[in-house]
Amino acid sequence: MRHAIAAVLLGATLSCRAGPTPAAASSAASPAPAAAPGGTLPDSVAAIRAANALVVDSVLRAIAGQESKPAAEVFEDVRWLKDVNARTFLTIMSIGYANALGVRCAYCHDVSNFASEEKRPKRAAREMQVMHRSINTQLMAMQNLATQPPDRRAINCTLCHQGRINPNKRP
Ligand code: HEC
Ligand code: HEC
Repeated sequence: MRHAIAAVLLGATLSCRAGPTPAAASSAASPAPAAAPGGTLPDSVAAIRAANALVVDSVLRAIAGQESKPAAEVFEDVRWLKDVNARTFLTIMSIGYANALGVRCAYCHDVSNFASEEKRPKRAAREMQVMHRSINTQLMAMQNLATQPPDRRAINCTLCHQGRINPNKRP
């Protein structure tokens, strides 16, 4: 299983290494605009999302036929998002995690071995998972909110991160 994913992804990684992408070249020359005209995403953000989509596609191909099984059965070391199905798990990875922080999968992962814990940001994300759940548990238990009913108060990674790695560091 791991080797199948690794083989597909190594191909993707190697082709990415063939040369700098236009987005990488332009962001080296000048900072990306906060928002492009017409409400479209800045090139750098669009390029990161496109690259992540290819990685998700590769993983989906490697797990073909198992997309609807619980993530903990399909992948090697899922400890937190165990019960969501594998397809939803990958959507959480790409929209909930990567887009939330504005990063590539490789920020947290060795993409030739997703189960590896070697990268510090993956371990940090595990700590964030615990904090995130604790915040939602506390929000649900609050007695004096007139805003939303308890089952609609949940927050997510994006609420704080808004496309940034560090929500505490304002531009
Ligand atoms: C902010 C860090 C972060 C980013 C970005 C991220 N991941 Fe993850 N990933 C994690 C964490 C943490 C886990 C463990 C989840 C759990 O235990 O519930 C994980 C687990 C996984 C696993 C299961 C590995 C295994 O075999 O145990 C896969 C597959 C995966 N991620 C794919 C991706 C893909 C594809 C992307 C990009 C679209 C991505 N991840 C982006 C943090 C991240
Ligand atoms: C309540 C706000 C909040 C929520 C919700 C939140 N984060 Fe964070 N996160 C932060 C802050 C603040 C920091 C940086 C702390 C600092 O150094 O000042 C951070 C840092 C991180 C880092 C460390 C990056 C690095 O390279 O050191 C990762 C990874 C991360 N968050 C992932 C996540 C993920 C994944 C989720 C959702 C499961 C999440 N965060 C939810 C506030 C939040």
